[in-house]
Amino acid sequence: MGSTPVAGELLAIGELDPGRIALEFRAPNLIAALRPGHALHLVRPESGGYRVRRVAPVSRVDLLRGSVEVALQPRADGGQDALAGLRIGEVIELIGPIGQPILINKATMRLLLIADGEGFAWVRALAIAATSAGVSVTMLQQAETAADLPPASLLPDVVEIVVATSDGSIGHRGTVADLLAEYVSWADQAVVAGAADIRAAATSAALRRRTADRTTASGKPARTRTTPAGNRAPWLQALLAHEIGCGIGACGGCTVATRAGQVRLCREGPAVDATGSASKGGA
Ligand code: FES
Repeated sequence: MGSTPVAGELLAIGELDPGRIALEFRAPNLIAALRPGHALHLVRPESGGYRVRRVAPVSRVDLLRGSVEVALQPRADGGQDALAGLRIGEVIELIGPIGQPILINKATMRLLLIADGEGFAWVRALAIAATSAGVSVTMLQQAETAADLPPASLLPDVVEIVVATSDGSIGHRGTVADLLAEYVSWADQAVVAGAADIRAAATSAALRRRTADRTTASGKPARTRTTPAGNRAPWLQALLAHEIGCGIGACGGCTVATRAGQVRLCREGPAVDATGSASKGGA
């Protein structure tokens, strides 16, 4: 059975990055259950008995305001999302949480986040939660140009933001793939969210890191590093976005093939083990 719908009153409409709308809803009875990696279903009745239903990642939780901010994902068909036309004060149904939280090991003190404009919404809440818990966070952000980047003010001041733009208008000219080698040995864990190209780049970097961990400079196998008690999350998790569906694991519409088999993103995901070395599978 799915979660019981709760009423969410729209408090604010904003943008995470150009064209990507964020909606803040007052929903005090829902927010205690929300963790980074979760999404919500937004449900709005339409004329003719239809109901608009969308999966929206949780991008921020404000315990003092009793509110949750979610990001509208671009529609697969490129059309305008009817939910973008909501007005302040309107009430819709929120259902969730959808999916599993991103797993962060207790021993993790250095967290690497890798995102493009599409993926930013999926990792923003994690950046906020991790820094609140005293974890050092570096965010590698990729965009076509400076104007496409999310404002730095959307992240806590203590997050180190490193930018790569295709046109070189700010930061490194190129992609985050060019920067990964510098950061993978620093990080205790990493999370990537966004298009297939940055997920592939991060996965390749994680596999190289794993190989390096197992090989000494002379080419002989290194001693396997012991895993501190309580560590069970893979080094790299990939966030795989999904747009619509039942949200309760019943329809199969969000099923994707991973290195370790089929994963329903609304139940076992959206975070999967990108290198397939743990139980949840790879992207
Ligand atoms: S959305 Fe139906 S199984 Fe995931």
